[in-house]
Amino acid sequence: PVTIVLLCAVAYLGGSVLFALPICKLWGLPDPRALGSGNPGATNVYRSGGWRPAAMTLALDAAKGWLPVWFAYNAGLSALAQAMVALFAVTGHMIPAFYRFKGGKGVATALGAGLALAPITTAVMAAIWLLILWRWRISALASVITVVSGPVISAFIEPENLPLFGLLALLVVVRHRNNLIRLAQGREIGL
Ligand code: G3P
Repeated sequence: PVTIVLLCAVAYLGGSVLFALPICKLWGLPDPRALGSGNPGATNVYRSGGWRPAAMTLALDAAKGWLPVWFAYNAGLSALAQAMVALFAVTGHMIPAFYRFKGGKGVATALGAGLALAPITTAVMAAIWLLILWRWRISALASVITVVSGPVISAFIEPENLPLFGLLALLVVVRHRNNLIRLAQGREIGL
């Protein structure tokens, strides 16, 4: 139990580091919270800085989801405990301990945590995300459809992770509420 609590705390604090911010500083780009969608995530970094800083943001935000779950797995924690650690990492990104609790939408961090916990389901989800992005060029649309498809895919491939994918879908969709409103109004910003 001590290990679980410790890893959840570490996952939350690690998740709280929004890598879009230091990366934009490093690249000499404006604060992503002040332009585009205002979201401190890879998509919005792409809008101002192109694919290099965006890929870096995506990789590091994913790593902070992947790493604590990997530790939990190697510490011999149960699947439930690993899922809890994953949720804490994603929650850290969404409601961070820093930046006045104003975080991002959790897609990259959920991707990293998902890859550690349920790699096949997550790989299929990533393929869906890429396909939708390639077809419609709207990241939020790709993210929402992908996370909603997560529990369905998981039910077939890795059913033990269905509750986790259900919760992740709920959290990520709620964080995209403004994107969903813009999508419904036909004024969502693309890439
Ligand atoms: O992962 C975030 C993405 O789904 C939407 O980002 O910047 O278009 O709100 P953004």
